[in-house]
Amino acid sequence: MKERKGIILAGGKGTRLYPLTKVVSKQLMPVYDKPMIFYPLTTLIQAGIKDILIIINPFDQDLFERLLGDGNHLGIKITYKVQQKADGLAQAFLIGKEFIGSSNVALILGDNLFHGETLETHFTKSQKKDNGATVFAYPVKNPERYGVANFDNNGNVVSIEEKPKSPKSKFAITGIYFFDNSVVEKAEKVKPSDRGELEITDLIMMYLEEKTLHVEKFGSGIAWLDTGSHESLLAASSYVKIVEERQGLKLGCPEEISWRKGLISDEQLIEISKPLLKSGYGNYLMEKLNLTK
Ligand code: TTP
Repeated sequence: MKERKGIILAGGKGTRLYPLTKVVSKQLMPVYDKPMIFYPLTTLIQAGIKDILIIINPFDQDLFERLLGDGNHLGIKITYKVQQKADGLAQAFLIGKEFIGSSNVALILGDNLFHGETLETHFTKSQKKDNGATVFAYPVKNPERYGVANFDNNGNVVSIEEKPKSPKSKFAITGIYFFDNSVVEKAEKVKPSDRGELEITDLIMMYLEEKTLHVEKFGSGIAWLDTGSHESLLAASSYVKIVEERQGLKLGCPEEISWRKGLISDEQLIEISKPLLKSGYGNYLMEKLNLTK
């Protein structure tokens, strides 16, 4: 099995959240009790990825580094690279070319939140697939806002359309993508779209043309939320609050997942918890130590 690295896209303009995001990165906004980036970071760790590049806007590096450092406290490696201008999602693979090297790669959008029991199985399976691309389709009420997957009568994907005016299906492509190493070469061929962005849809289409694209449909047991507008940000916060209060389990808690995966020791978890006791986050982590792994 080839190594797979991870990229979190945490740049972008964030204009739909203005004035909130005029001076602070969208991916540092709170989603209930933690910064937004904790959620996609946790998802990558859950998928078994330990070497992660975070792509950020100029001026943001200091803040992200203060929050997440080099990832050592989570038993992973985190590095940062600046995207000078929000030129589109596919640019991640040009910015990340050196980081990716000869590895395969998973890309997750910094404002996407995934939750559900079967997710880890889905993502771990995809992360172990050496060739081609795997993306996930999720039924939504407003597919025209997303890349939309169209299927034939046998359920095979026939096309992906970016923000179609008249969507042919309700299946949006979610913000997590697993690509083999050829994505770097493919990204170099992507031309800016009419809106001036390097579109991820064009990259996915290249895999479809090569017949190496896998599209998995997420069922109703999985929640996929994006948090890019005021309404969706508030809805995501409410969702997290309700689930956490009801189940007593935190979503998007990278320290817990790293510890569960054996990437950090009990002692390290205690050290992380100490400065976080007053908010309840530290207590939550301490409680984990009384439970069996
Ligand atoms: P979007 O929500 O599509 O764009 P945005 O964050 O610029 O927001 P707005 O539409 O409100 O102006 O981006 C999805 C995710 O990808 C988000 O986490 C930001 C990130 N992103 C980048 O890092 N670089 C980019 O060039 C783009 C377009 C997005």
